[in-house]
Amino acid sequence: MPPYVTAEQTRNILIIGATGVVGTYIIRAIVDARENFGRICVFTSEKTLVEKVQDIAALEAWGVEIFTGRMESERSVKSAYEGIDTVVSCVGRAGIERQIDLITWAEQAGVRRFFPSEYGTDIEYWPESAQEPPHQLKLKVRAHMKTMQRLEHTYLVTGPYSDLYFGTMETRPELGYFDVKAKKAVLLGDGNGAVSFTAIADVGKFVVAALINTNASRNATLIVHSFTATPHEILAEYERQTGVTWEKSYTSLERLRQIEREEYQVHSRLATVVTLRRIWTEGGTLHKYYDETVLGHIETETLESQVAANIRKQEEGENNFPSLLRKLSLV
Ligand SMILES: *[C@@H]1O[C@H](CO)[C@@H](O)[C@H](O)[C@H]1NC(C)=O
Ligand SMILES: *[C@@H]1O[C@H](CO)[C@@H](O)[C@H](O)[C@H]1NC(C)=O
Repeated sequence: MPPYVTAEQTRNILIIGATGVVGTYIIRAIVDARENFGRICVFTSEKTLVEKVQDIAALEAWGVEIFTGRMESERSVKSAYEGIDTVVSCVGRAGIERQIDLITWAEQAGVRRFFPSEYGTDIEYWPESAQEPPHQLKLKVRAHMKTMQRLEHTYLVTGPYSDLYFGTMETRPELGYFDVKAKKAVLLGDGNGAVSFTAIADVGKFVVAALINTNASRNATLIVHSFTATPHEILAEYERQTGVTWEKSYTSLERLRQIEREEYQVHSRLATVVTLRRIWTEGGTLHKYYDETVLGHIETETLESQVAANIRKQEEGENNFPSLLRKLSLV
């Protein structure tokens, strides 16, 4: 990490959701860049304290202050907010709406900046975004943020995680996968639609850069990514690294839309996954140009490194998609 000038406004940080999948990477990056910050605090539930004893012990060993309480408790949350300049929320999908109170209380408690949990598909990419079911709660949070008098915000939009897109898809193979053992892939759309991906490990780096570049990130939507690739390019990289030609088939955009309708009809949890994949395939999260002048240059993962990591994972027998998917509450 290059040396940064410490910004007065981001001295004391509170992270909510720090032990979740994305939160784990975010807290790690913040701790690694600790010389830029004052107090680093985490707000967590009693339940997490018990279930994730080791994670909490690690955080304490790194000098992180732990505040315990329920996210619904104004008293607990406000007591954690005392002296805090910036709140970074990494709550999962189930906690998105609760941020409305967290934001109100932050304003009342004198917090200067709030990072709501975004870290995913761009919810304001084009006019159609406003109608997408998975975006509704995040859009509601942004609308609430607009009513704040003093509280500043930063929205960090990462697009899909390459860690989830690369790999197998046992629950519904038609939704696209790259299977290293079988040397088979199902590509989405015509295979030529580019998608901008962020590796989960890079999310923390972007958050730290946004925290440090206080001015550039003030009231801003920062759209970041690690790399951009089409399904054909991803497959070509798997083939290059495994040294053989793979068998491939396609799930057209039309077919994706059909699956999506069916999944909503039966109120399936998978519906959200299908919608997001359909959006990515339509090009609804393509950001070709990452403006390095905003956050500075960040060394990110690449198509090559992410395919290599996924091949390793699959060869070690770790089928990461379903479990990560559960933990991420469907991103
Ligand atoms: C950022 O947003 C807050 C709340 O809406 C507002 O009070 C503040 O003036 C904004 N700051 C800038 C620099 O636009
Ligand atoms: C950030 O903005 C403030 C107020 O607009 C300004 O005084 C300060 O010089 C800026 N800092 C940097 C590093 O640009």
